[in-house]
Amino acid sequence: MSVVVVGSLNMDVVVCASRRPRIGETIHGEEVYMVPGGKGANQAVASSRLGAKTTMIGAVGSDPFGETLRDALLKEGINIEALHSLPDQTTGVASILLAEGDNSIVVVPGANGLLTPKDVEGAREYIEAADILLLQLEIPIESVMIAAKIGRQAGTRVILNPAPAKELPKELLVNVDLLTPNESELQLLSGCSLDKMGLREAMQKLLEMGVKGVVTTLGADGAAILELGGEFKHLPGKKVVDVVDTTGAGDAFNAGLACALAEGKSLLEAVDFAGKTASLAITKLGAQAGMPVRSEVDKLDESY
Ligand code: RIB
Ligand code: NA
Repeated sequence: MSVVVVGSLNMDVVVCASRRPRIGETIHGEEVYMVPGGKGANQAVASSRLGAKTTMIGAVGSDPFGETLRDALLKEGINIEALHSLPDQTTGVASILLAEGDNSIVVVPGANGLLTPKDVEGAREYIEAADILLLQLEIPIESVMIAAKIGRQAGTRVILNPAPAKELPKELLVNVDLLTPNESELQLLSGCSLDKMGLREAMQKLLEMGVKGVVTTLGADGAAILELGGEFKHLPGKKVVDVVDTTGAGDAFNAGLACALAEGKSLLEAVDFAGKTASLAITKLGAQAGMPVRSEVDKLDESY
């Protein structure tokens, strides 16, 4: 089973503080650490740890952060033949504030913003060979679109995690097998406010826009599933007592989904596996470093 990720790599500069500063205010933080992140790379690492042969297509700058991110993927056994190091460019950086039990993030794309459709074309063999293609929205939309198109043509199942949220062209949605929004992304993409319309109706709207299936992540409330010609299903969330860092929870979920589907599990089973992966990821610090390995997820399986 194999997964190819076309997406971003960021250095996460994480600052922990007891609260969020007000505008114009300076406060003291408690800790700072720099850890590999980026939605694409996080999903690639989780996928590899879960046991899938994983390839990462993306771009970093030719600076020390780029080296570190590259090495991090290499250490995980991920194929980085199609990971570009762009001369004279900076690596993507995410400035993350952890305060009051939640995170706020500012991403500066750097090299991620320069991954071109041509770069993706150049790596088409990896997309064609994979079982699953995993996409997010931290690289140029044209590059996401070409990747999805190549995937669709090759019969590689295309999962698009529409994060961070932005409106998407229909030409992209028609090449998506599974869209995995959270609630706010679902609202934006469907144009339905969730308090007026039910979850199900909003998801139905996305099917009408051309995707074949939608899995909406609901945080502690689990996830909802709706496929073309299928029934609406809701899977309750896993109870997690010791939440440490929720950064990358969505990435863990998407990687879990991709791996389980690559193994031939049903969508319902895959969503369950994805939820377990995410519930473990949030008990550890660091988006990428905190991704669970396969044995941890399987062990969780026995205790449910
Ligand atoms: O999904 C979490 C990721 O989003 C972080 O690692 C950060 O890099 C941002 O891109
Ligand atoms: Na984590």
